[in-house]
Parts: sequence; structure tokens; C-alpha cells
Amino acid sequence: MTALDTTARNATSVPIAPLLAERWSPRGFTASHELSDEEARSLVEAVRWSPSFMNDQPWRVALARRGTALFGGIVQTLAGFNQTWMPAVSAIAVLVTETERDGEAVPYAEYDAGQAAAHLSIQAAHLGLWAHQAAGFDQAEMSELLGLSAAQKPLTVIAIGEHADTDEVPEKIRERDARPRERRSVDEILLAPIA
Ligand SMILES: Cc1cc2nc3c(=O)[nH]c(=O)nc-3n(C[C@H](O)[C@H](O)[C@H](O)COP(=O)(O)O)c2cc1C
Repeated sequence: MTALDTTARNATSVPIAPLLAERWSPRGFTASHELSDEEARSLVEAVRWSPSFMNDQPWRVALARRGTALFGGIVQTLAGFNQTWMPAVSAIAVLVTETERDGEAVPYAEYDAGQAAAHLSIQAAHLGLWAHQAAGFDQAEMSELLGLSAAQKPLTVIAIGEHADTDEVPEKIRERDARPRERRSVDEILLAPIA
């Protein structure tokens, strides 16, 4: 058994890629951080290069920076709890997948979008930022806001920004961010011992 790697944020049982070992989803963000044009584009570029079934690329993304009308519109669709912390983030991406094409279900549409979200999250970590995925929003309102077709399903919003644990973050959120992070053990995830 390899010694516990406690150098990273996440207590991994063996070392893993640093960006994965550090990744987390805080809710405390600083409203003074701005996302540059190139950083914003790099998040979408990371989505673009995620793998998909038959290279079908069923995902679509809207990305809005804080202070824009679209950002404000997205915040309006959020569930109450998410509205308490998300307005401070630098940008919010809306991840949409195409569930149906020509009357046929698009295979693996949600699976592929999940990978796109993971790619975006890791690119955010590469920028020194954190991405926080959230499903707590009104799907019908989001579809209307983005002018989506019936076949396009908004799956998650992904908040991106710089973590803050200062007074600008409500105490409840700071407390929540400070809680120990937990995971099932590797043995619990494995269906059978690694062969
Ligand atoms: C599909 C999905 C939906 C989520 N919805 C919300 C949400 O609405 N609000 C929220 O604060 N966090 C939400 N989360 C974040 C999870 O709670 C978080 O990823 C999980 O607790 C693990 O924490 P970590 O990302 O820091 O490892 C969501 C995550 C995923 C993947």
C-alpha cells in the first residue's frame, strides 16, 4: 500500500495528476476577479476537445461573464441556494446537450456532455480557477433564455471563478467550503479487486 498523499487538497491514496488532486467545487468566490477573453475562450476550447460517441459532439455551451445581461439572466434561473453564492463568480457556463436528432435519440448525449464538463473544470483549474457545476436551476426558464429547441436540454450551469474565504463571502458558505471533503474508498468503487 502506497502512503497517503496529503500534499494535495484531496487526500488521495496514491499520487494522481496534480490538477485532479487539487480540483474541488468551492462556493466562495471573489467578485473582483475578471476572466480575460483568452481565458474564456480556453474554457470553450477545452470542451471542444473532449471525446464523444462517434465524435458526435452533441454539447453546446453558453458562457457569460459577470456584469453582462446574459449572466444576470442565468442567475435569475438559479434555485434559491445557488443564488446565494453564484452571483460573485467570474463567469457561468451553461452546458446543453442535443438529446434528439431527426426524431432519433442521440446516443450517449448526456455521457458526452459530462465529459465536456470535466474538461472545462480541469481547464479552469489550469487557469488557477475553480469550476462548480450545478443542476439547481429552472430548465424551462433556461431554455427560453437561450432560445433552445425542444431537442436541446440544459444539463448544468458551471460557475467559474477565483476562490475566496474572506469577509466578502457569507459565513455559512465559508463554513461549508471548510468542511472536510469525503469520498468512497477505492475498494468500495471497485467491483472486484484490480486484476
Ligand atoms: C450534476 C451535478 C449537479 C450539481 N448541482 C449542484 C447544485 O445545484 N448546487 C451546488 O452547490 N452544487 C452542486 N453540485 C456540486 C456537487 O455538490 C459537488 O461536485 C460535490 O459535492 C463534490 O464536491 P467536489 O466537486 O468539491 O469534489 C453539482 C455537481 C454535479 C456534478
